[in-house]
Amino acid sequence: MTSFLADAVETDFTTLAVHAGLDLDPTTGALLTPICQSTTFRQAAVGVDKGFTYSRAANPTVAALERNLGALESALPAVCTSSGMAAITTLLLATLRAGDRVVCSEVVYGGTVRLLRQVLEGFGVEPVFADTTRSAQLERALRGGARLVFVETPANPTLVLTDLHAAAQAAHAAGALLAVDNTFLTPAHQDAFGFGADVVIHSTTKLIEGHNATLGGALLTRDPQLRARLDLVRKSIGTIQSPFEAWLTLRGLKTLALRIERAAASALGIARWLEAQPQVARVSYPFLESFPQLELARRQQRSGGTILAFELAGDAAAGVALLERLRLWSLAENLGAVESLATHPATMTHAALAPEERERLGLGDGLVRLSVGLEDPRDLIRDLEQALGGPP
Ligand SMILES: Cc1ncc(COP(=O)(O)O)c(C=O)c1O
Repeated sequence: MTSFLADAVETDFTTLAVHAGLDLDPTTGALLTPICQSTTFRQAAVGVDKGFTYSRAANPTVAALERNLGALESALPAVCTSSGMAAITTLLLATLRAGDRVVCSEVVYGGTVRLLRQVLEGFGVEPVFADTTRSAQLERALRGGARLVFVETPANPTLVLTDLHAAAQAAHAAGALLAVDNTFLTPAHQDAFGFGADVVIHSTTKLIEGHNATLGGALLTRDPQLRARLDLVRKSIGTIQSPFEAWLTLRGLKTLALRIERAAASALGIARWLEAQPQVARVSYPFLESFPQLELARRQQRSGGTILAFELAGDAAAGVALLERLRLWSLAENLGAVESLATHPATMTHAALAPEERERLGLGDGLVRLSVGLEDPRDLIRDLEQALGGPP
């Protein structure tokens, strides 16, 4: 196998994304990693194999994606899974036992809340939801002890931030691991390990694959023992990613840095434009001058990301009506892809939360979440303008 980077001196993010961990196929010289669509691998003799035995344990195409993601996060090769939720399930089963507490950000993707409350609690795991945007609240929640601290920053869907350095210090002082769901920014725009994370989680379904074409997840760590445990749990419960999804994800990764940069620039422009509209009551976007945690955002993130949330003045029905008038933006779940999407968190991504809880956390029925894609931002603004009832 010839490694693309064997003699390379340039190893910045964009170069790594295109080449890291991807070896030339020695039989054909194929430039792209082949899709190894094989369940099993013929063994030369009993106990003699080429590192692959059965694709629930490991697969060459998935392994190439894992090396690439590992290089991008400056971590060990990733453990790639069939979805983001499969990654979180694998992580929780690998690290928690009955009787353990897990402290989780109170604003996170609704599926994570559902998994902790409606599935894992039944196995004796105690989830504690805390306002991790305030370090004192996290420290208070940790007084009862915890095995794991799970944070999402920026948080889905309100974009509130958790200070990763402070969270790592608090988690480690309590003897807990810090797991960071880095789906919203990816390693291109947030170096969670650099701030002290022990595990990084991605729904690769989002920006990493980036084309609304797959479901996938990834777990990363720098600890060989933890990685071996994640691998064992994935093999045992059967949550590995499929070779074709891994291949599409590898292809998406090659353009990640360019896509996120362009979409984040558009998102900032759209957030500023929305903020200036009289019909809009509130816009949340981490790099907006009005964002309450702007200083932390600038310290911790390389951009404000590609997601923003806003509320219209008036009642919640105004937001729903706007969503139904959009034409270029698709009313759909998912985020981080080339197509711009508009979502209603209360009925879509966060329907698993009770209405009072959603209201308390700032994701009431009037909240609209936008995922900015790669269309011309002027076209996206024109569509928002017509949906707000402005000039056609
Ligand atoms: C931040 C975050 N984490 C995890 C997930 C779950 O990922 P998946 O849909 O790939 O299972 C999502 C899905 O929206 C998400 O937004």
